[in-house]
Amino acid sequence: MAYSDVAASRLAVLTRQLNDVGITAEFTGAVEERPAPGGGRGTLTVVDNRTGKKYTLEISEGGTVNASQLKQIKAGGDGVGLRTYDPGYTNTSAVISRISFIDGELGILRYRGYPIEQLAEKSNFMEVAYLVLFGSLPTQTQFATFNDAVMRHTALPEQVIAAMDALPMDAHPMGVLMTGLCALSTMHPEANPALAGQNVYKSREMQDKQIVRLLGKVATLGAYAYHKSTGRRPAPPQQHLDYATNFLYMLDAGSSPNYRPHPRLARALDIMFTLHAEHEMNCSTAAVRHLASSGVDVYTAVTGAVGALYGPLHGGANEAVLKMLARIGKLENIPAFIQAVKSKKEKLFGFGHRVYRNFDPRAKIIKDVSEEVFKIAGYDPMIEIAKALQDAALSDEYFTSRKLYPNVDFYSGVVYRAMGFPPQFFTVLFAIPRIVGYTAHWREQLVDPDTKILRPQQDYKGVWLRNYTPVAERNAEGADTLAKLPTSNAYQRRVAGDHWA
Ligand code: CMC
Repeated sequence: MAYSDVAASRLAVLTRQLNDVGITAEFTGAVEERPAPGGGRGTLTVVDNRTGKKYTLEISEGGTVNASQLKQIKAGGDGVGLRTYDPGYTNTSAVISRISFIDGELGILRYRGYPIEQLAEKSNFMEVAYLVLFGSLPTQTQFATFNDAVMRHTALPEQVIAAMDALPMDAHPMGVLMTGLCALSTMHPEANPALAGQNVYKSREMQDKQIVRLLGKVATLGAYAYHKSTGRRPAPPQQHLDYATNFLYMLDAGSSPNYRPHPRLARALDIMFTLHAEHEMNCSTAAVRHLASSGVDVYTAVTGAVGALYGPLHGGANEAVLKMLARIGKLENIPAFIQAVKSKKEKLFGFGHRVYRNFDPRAKIIKDVSEEVFKIAGYDPMIEIAKALQDAALSDEYFTSRKLYPNVDFYSGVVYRAMGFPPQFFTVLFAIPRIVGYTAHWREQLVDPDTKILRPQQDYKGVWLRNYTPVAERNAEGADTLAKLPTSNAYQRRVAGDHWA
């Protein structure tokens, strides 16, 4: 690692510590070239001990070995060459990307080279969206054009509203959001490769039209998802407001067109959106790339990604954090909870990350945002439990030895609760800004000459070959079969009706 990077990371840690006592420091060091990833370009000599044969494999400048090179390494058997086995893709680069960068050991997150700390402090969500999507910070004119295009696409077609209306009142807001996104896919046949042909997304205008449409409409879909359980309609979007302010307006304006959300709460939400706009490859970004690789329309691909985000191990974790804190309830219950986590009876939601083995840089920023939100929305006693739980975990060998630190979801749930959002809505607040990252990856993949339909392989370990057995000769003993399905009394009544005679 270059000296300045080490210095920058140390300074970041120092800054964090200083911030904790109310002092700030800023990295002003010169920006240097990136150290060669994985040691950089070269070759790798491999000896197959089964055959004694030696192979020379290319190492790319990205420090990767193209897995196809392993195909040449054969040792009899079925004649098939070596493959890699990497469940969970823990050490596999599936794409070359230029959008964002994470260093989990150092706690670094950058969008297009800009540290997330700088963007959260100095920029705003729409500017960051432009940066993530198009690669550079916008000029004033570029910003105005982009912002205007997004905000002019905030209205929803009646049919999409009707699809969401058809859902039950207690539908999870993520289910409502996905229904709305999926319904959008049916509204634009001219932008659907299945109907308009595979070349439809070759046009930049066509790509960007779908992006501004998705980004504009997702906030309105989120507002509908919010009001599903209140039984009310969101206020119609106001395209002259900024993105976060308009979102709060749709939630809270009711029938008062002059209503204005509190600007500092809108700014806090804008920062939260900025922090969630993009996060390199993960479960849901990989999902958008997987789905889009088949050539499916972008609305369907994004719906699939939002589905992947919904899970409690990914974007659903902030909802799970809040439920966990509520269950803990009192400071004195923390030691017993920590003990239950250590004996694997519980999971400490909001802790641990596949990539960050250090503080998630976003967690610190959110902690600062939480102080601001509490000043306006009132202090939330749950923060005490969150803080004490964090301290207990960070001073316990179980967590430190496994490098488990608070992740972005640990504090975001507390902030969103203080802002008055119900826990089941938290993941929607994550999904709205992440449309930026999803569509940036979609756009990048469309023009990447290496793009192929994604088709991972499997290591087959099932029964090799058997002859078809006539039904009279089959023996059910020990074989897997349909579980005994739970039945209701109404079901029993219906079955009784079929069998009484
Ligand atoms: N609580 C208790 N133990 C944990 C936790 C946790 N939150 N996370 C990891 N561990 C333990 C795990 O049991 C294992 O222990 P052992 O070595 O004894 O088997 C060890 O730490 C390594 O864990 P892992 O499962 O191999 O780690 P992973 O990289 O596969 O999983 C994770 C990453 C995020 C799924 C996991 O840390 C987790 O489930 N965290 C809680 C859910 C959460 O907060 N998710 C939000 C992630 S941030 C949002 C995003 O970017 O998606």
